[in-house]
Amino acid sequence: MAEHHSLQESPQSGPPTARSPPAPDGLPVLDHTIGFLRDGIDFGNRMANHGDVVAFDAMGIPFVAVYDPALVQQVLVDRSDEFRKGDYETAFGDLIAPDGLAFTEGEQWRRDRQLLQPAFTPRHIQSFADTMVARTADAAESWTAEGIVDLRQAASDLTLDILVGTLFDLDLDAERGQVVQAALDALDDRISGLSMVAPGWLPTPAKRRFERRMTDLDEMVDALIRERRRSGIEAEAGADLLDTLLAAEYPDGSTMDAEQVRDQLVTFLGAGHETTAVALTYTLWLLAGDSAVRDRLDAELEAVCGDADPSFADLPDLEYAEAVVKEALRLYPPVYAIYRQPIEDTILGGYELSADQTLVLGTYQIHRDSRWWDDPDAFRPARWLGDEDDSQDRPEYAYFPFGGGPRHCIGMRFARMELTLALATLARNLEFKRITENLSPSAEVTLDPGEVRIRVTSRE
Ligand code: HEM
Repeated sequence: MAEHHSLQESPQSGPPTARSPPAPDGLPVLDHTIGFLRDGIDFGNRMANHGDVVAFDAMGIPFVAVYDPALVQQVLVDRSDEFRKGDYETAFGDLIAPDGLAFTEGEQWRRDRQLLQPAFTPRHIQSFADTMVARTADAAESWTAEGIVDLRQAASDLTLDILVGTLFDLDLDAERGQVVQAALDALDDRISGLSMVAPGWLPTPAKRRFERRMTDLDEMVDALIRERRRSGIEAEAGADLLDTLLAAEYPDGSTMDAEQVRDQLVTFLGAGHETTAVALTYTLWLLAGDSAVRDRLDAELEAVCGDADPSFADLPDLEYAEAVVKEALRLYPPVYAIYRQPIEDTILGGYELSADQTLVLGTYQIHRDSRWWDDPDAFRPARWLGDEDDSQDRPEYAYFPFGGGPRHCIGMRFARMELTLALATLARNLEFKRITENLSPSAEVTLDPGEVRIRVTSRE
């Protein structure tokens, strides 16, 4: 990333300790809708070149982009009760799951987070390891048979299979898997380009397609819930996330209504599957392009796993595999930005923020900022390990792929374990060769790599 220009103070700025966040080069705040929608990552990179706190307008929303890890920590952690998810995030939630954990605020969010947390305890997550490995080993076989693999699609099928096979203890047949995928694809189209700025009443094709796909998804989710009610809801020990949702009781004795259960399911299907799918895609693509990393990973796999597939017990020793995943999440964070809105007018980093401004915490840009990272665009898993660990002087929030504070990713442990085990299982069984040499990721619901084709051969 280019070096940061100094911020220009406007002559009308208020007291020296608090002034409005500057627009790029001190110009009046301009409407940046086109740049923001056309290429969100490039747009963010350009904003980051103007400073650590930069104001701009897009789609009629006043945004303030933040690229300073210390300020990210204030917003997400130290002063988290002064910020809410905000209108931009809620508008997105309204499209798919208004009552989903990722979108609710205040007491409703706190209550639901507490209720769902038991499905994500280390003990629960640990019990998923074997399923994660077994489903990945099946995928490895079918990828070999295909030879040339559409990695984005194949990773998506695998992570959906793992998610529903663990958290929901279900087997989604191909048809149902397709319903989930079609809804998520339609959502990507719905929130990009014209459809995003078209007035609510204007029925663009993307909006119509999105509504049809969401209806299909709703019908499928209703069927899943009916099937589970028929087969019986497990309490306590054997409970999965679906049981937890259906049996959940709030402290006042009330339960989640059908709409709430549906919204949580849709949220978890989306948040838990797309994110890990793109993370796995980037991880394998990076691995396929770096033979030194591959050799070091192979040596670790041989030493730790021998000729068996990995298991939960191996995880503490799969240090390098974990570092490969960590480094891929640094270079290509699936959640490339986090949004917050101040509950009241406040001050952040010496800048006045008003309650109608939406903060964009620039994960992608901070993860590649040369102030915190040596050779920031290079894929160097070893930077996370032993002698080569260069993290001493780095602020904690220079790296936050899973967010931070009370609203950090509830699936973080699940995702890290899944990605490490999937990487180890796939690398033990397969060789990868890039067909797609260059990626140009785009800012969709997640950081979308586009089509990624690789050649897969068996190592046997
Ligand atoms: C590599 C994979 C993943 C990444 C990078 C990721 C990233 C994130 C981030 C950055 C947040 C915080 C957003 C914010 O503060 O505004 C978040 C929240 C969330 N994530 Fe993940 N996530 C991943 C996997 C998962 C998985 C596997 C699940 C579920 C099984 C999941 C479920 C959620 C939910 C429900 C929230 C909302 C939590 C709340 O607001 O209390 N995520 N995720």
